Amino acid sequence: MGLSSLALALPYVGCDIKDRPVLLEEIQEADLALLKNIFDLEKLSGEAMGEDALSYLNGGADDLKTVRANHEAYGNIQIRPRRLVDVRNISTKIELFGKELDNPIILCPVGFQKVFHPDGEIASAKAAVNRNHQMIVSSVSNFSVNEIAKESGADLWFQLYPTSDRAITKKLLDRAMAAGCKVCFLTVDTPVLGNRENHGTNLAKMIESGEIEMGNFRDILPEGMGINDPGMTWEMIGWLRENCDMKIVLKGIVTREDARLAVQHNVDGIVVSNHGGRQLESNRATIDCLPEVAEEVNGAFPVLIDGGIRRGTDIFKALALGASAVCIGRPFCWGLGALGQQGVELALEILKTELIRDMQLAGTPSVSDITSNYVLRS
Ligand SMILES: Cc1cc2nc3c(=O)[nH]c(=O)nc-3n(C[C@H](O)[C@H](O)[C@H](O)COP(=O)(O)O)c2cc1C
Repeated sequence: MGLSSLALALPYVGCDIKDRPVLLEEIQEADLALLKNIFDLEKLSGEAMGEDALSYLNGGADDLKTVRANHEAYGNIQIRPRRLVDVRNISTKIELFGKELDNPIILCPVGFQKVFHPDGEIASAKAAVNRNHQMIVSSVSNFSVNEIAKESGADLWFQLYPTSDRAITKKLLDRAMAAGCKVCFLTVDTPVLGNRENHGTNLAKMIESGEIEMGNFRDILPEGMGINDPGMTWEMIGWLRENCDMKIVLKGIVTREDARLAVQHNVDGIVVSNHGGRQLESNRATIDCLPEVAEEVNGAFPVLIDGGIRRGTDIFKALALGASAVCIGRPFCWGLGALGQQGVELALEILKTELIRDMQLAGTPSVSDITSNYVLRS
């Protein structure tokens, strides 16, 4: 059965999101085997969720140049494999922010996951638990961070969008800490929302109709208040230190200058990110920003990266160029939209399997073996 006929066999194709079954038990192992890579999942998710939901997921700023650049830039990097290395046993384990992780592939904070599947973030978190991946919950998750932790049993990290009212931000942090989160990712590339003129209209309609909500802001966000703070500066780091005991990671650093300031402000980590191309158009691809940021940080704390990672080789290249771990956004959401929890698990399995094979082919049995010697830029 080809991908499109598989999609036609799915009961919810073309249905409203409310009519979709929670899990697609009908999908047999043999059918799943047809989904060979992340791009197959993207295609199936489009067919399953419909174009409007896909445009929210795949959309970005202006003309999508940065969205495209993020992935395409990996094509300009070649791998220099070594030969005659014993690669029978590969370890993808890493240590990050005081925690041992099975692998360096982390689920990005992605808001409003119920747009992709009714089980939303709970399905993603259950998949992360089953497959041993770390997940970061968005401030604008549909289920609250507490609900997600409780339903999935996941040890979650939290992403913070501050409002301009620090009392509300404090309540949000308290909710994350009460849910057990030990690491806070402060998103710093969103003083205002990017120009996302290519987004569909479903999300707005679903919020308006009350079909979905922002679970973490329940009862604390005054009508009309935004979830960004255009007045936020580096002073925020000190405030966060005083108001929460989570580790503080800045998500959205893309320059040497800001990396230096981050070191001076003693943060616990950085994510090199341009929000998946959804904020400022004409950002450089994140993989092109990584070397200058990693060089400036010089081991002071972990540097993570997200944006455009679709293949095991992309992960390998990011690790080689100085990332301690990578975060993926759209890939796991394509899985969620296509098949719910099962699809997220499939996306994670695809990427980890590819990474392991690539590590074997490159002659690097552990993540720490992957250094800049293994890549070259054309
Ligand atoms: C649909 C969608 C929603 C997102 N929501 C958030 C969010 O709530 N908070 C945040 O910091 N980043 C958010 N991001 C950005 C991701 O965390 C991440 O930076 C980006 O998706 C990585 O690029 P990739 O999708 O190519 O992997 C979102 C991205 C997408 C695609």
